[in-house]
Amino acid sequence: MADLDQQDLDHEYALDRDCTTLSRHVLQQMQSSVEAQDLSAIMNRVALAAKLIARRLTRAGLVEDALGFTGRTNVQGESVKKMDLYANQVFISAFQQSGLVCRLASEEMENPYYIPDNCSIGRYSLLYDPIDGSSNVDINLNVGAIFAIRQQEGEDDGTAQDLLQNGHKQIAAGYVLYGPSTMLIYSVGTGVHAFTLDPSLGEFILAAENIQIPAHGPVYSVNEGNFWQWEESIRDYIRYVHRHEGYTARYSGALVGDVHRILFQGGVFLYPGTVKKPEGKIRLLYESAPLAFLVEQAGGRASTGTEEIMSVVPKQLHDRTPLIIGSKEDVALVESFIQEHQRDQRERLLASG
Ligand code: F6P
Ligand code: MN
Repeated sequence: MADLDQQDLDHEYALDRDCTTLSRHVLQQMQSSVEAQDLSAIMNRVALAAKLIARRLTRAGLVEDALGFTGRTNVQGESVKKMDLYANQVFISAFQQSGLVCRLASEEMENPYYIPDNCSIGRYSLLYDPIDGSSNVDINLNVGAIFAIRQQEGEDDGTAQDLLQNGHKQIAAGYVLYGPSTMLIYSVGTGVHAFTLDPSLGEFILAAENIQIPAHGPVYSVNEGNFWQWEESIRDYIRYVHRHEGYTARYSGALVGDVHRILFQGGVFLYPGTVKKPEGKIRLLYESAPLAFLVEQAGGRASTGTEEIMSVVPKQLHDRTPLIIGSKEDVALVESFIQEHQRDQRERLLASG
């Protein structure tokens, strides 16, 4: 027993000795870049928002006005939860005095939120999903936040036209996972790195560096309740995994949680288009593109089924895309079903004259 205790202590000290904080890590990653200080400061603010939101989530069942709906619907017509609004506001407050970010766009706001005072210092935009998977909030299951940073291009007349560009315009992206512990995963284009919040220190501490997603994994993550709403190609893919050994289904109802599992253990998440929603449900600028940036940095892929997510140019801020994301081989397998069906359709059309 005494030995065990000593081992535990040694382990804890070992972690304490080389603990790297998030802001230090960003600076290290961007050594010679002129943006290093800016991005380190921006990540610090994202971390502050994450800590405030994590604190509220951990006590959500005990405090007033944390659970349930607001009674309003957002720009996509979805019911807004109190936690969605709270978290959206926390990001705004965290960036209000930060300098640097002069525009925030979120899926909870029809138009971007402008902070003109910050525009002379920095011309960065933060795009974010403040609470991802918010249906999980009321039952105390994992939720997340997704974010991306872009540089403003040209003048903005209030319509944020320059945000309507592809995912390669992102200079950083990441997500926060509120689970048994709170984790922040980010990339500034130099690999993917994971941090765990140590609540006693109030700091995100480096947990895993240069994460590489396995080329293939056992997990397929999809809402099979939509089976009869999908195109035949997706149904065929699902039939394939049902009939072959080595596949297992996991679906948490929060994209961040499902992608997190896949980032570490491999597999594929898909949210294809449905009859009612041909573009699916996942928003390009706040969800698909940031996660595509991250997963590609980890050696994985993200596709609409016919196009790389990173290449998709939105027509509008709140555009959605079908999303197939995860291990290279598993994404390619889903795509092969989609492409095969498209080939068949073309041939049938040609044959019918
Ligand atoms: O943000 C959209 C989202 O909440 C994702 O987090 C999640 O993966 C998905 O929607 C769940 O949608 P559904 O309930 O239709 O499966
Ligand atoms: Mn979401």
